[in-house]
Amino acid sequence: MYKHRVFITEDQIQARLVALAEQLDRDYAGRTLNIVCILKGAAVFVADLIRLLHIPVILHFLKVSSYTDGAESSGTVHLHFSSVTDLEARHVLVIEDILDTGITMDYLIKHMTATKPASLRYCVLLDKPERRKIDIRPDYVGFEIADYFVIGYGLDYNELGRNLRYIAILEE
Ligand code: XMP
Ligand code: MG
Repeated sequence: MYKHRVFITEDQIQARLVALAEQLDRDYAGRTLNIVCILKGAAVFVADLIRLLHIPVILHFLKVSSYTDGAESSGTVHLHFSSVTDLEARHVLVIEDILDTGITMDYLIKHMTATKPASLRYCVLLDKPERRKIDIRPDYVGFEIADYFVIGYGLDYNELGRNLRYIAILEE
């Protein structure tokens, strides 16, 4: 594993998830929520979050990439896989691991709008507002962070680190 130091602990993550789930339960009360989990990074977050929800949930998966390797963005987004079906007139929440430049989210907004949902919102575990190139504000944010490259709790560096129970800052 790469050298790293703990940044957001397992307890901090779980406490924040409880609050987020309460907010989602309130905001979508009486509705069925279609969650679109953006692979691979959001898988751990989504798995924990949906088990705290009381509203009915339908789960979809979408795999996109904008990063070629390591930490640098390639600028273009590729759609690799989609299990998304029947979102027309449904309430849709897209869940991502981290909002960085906004390039991925910008693509997802266009892609998901085309499915004609009744409502469309975005939730991210982590938001790095300093790095934004496209002005996008997510509806739900787990933690706002400074410009660190982070791993753990679903996030990777060259595919490693996703299974860490905490979020960590990568060290040289
Ligand atoms: P953009 O720039 O399109 O980036 O908003 C979103 C995607 O970039 C990846 N990303 C990271 N992955 N640690 C990671 O493991 C980070 O600090 C980080 N910053 C951006 C991530 O895949 C995200 O979906
Ligand atoms: Mg990644």
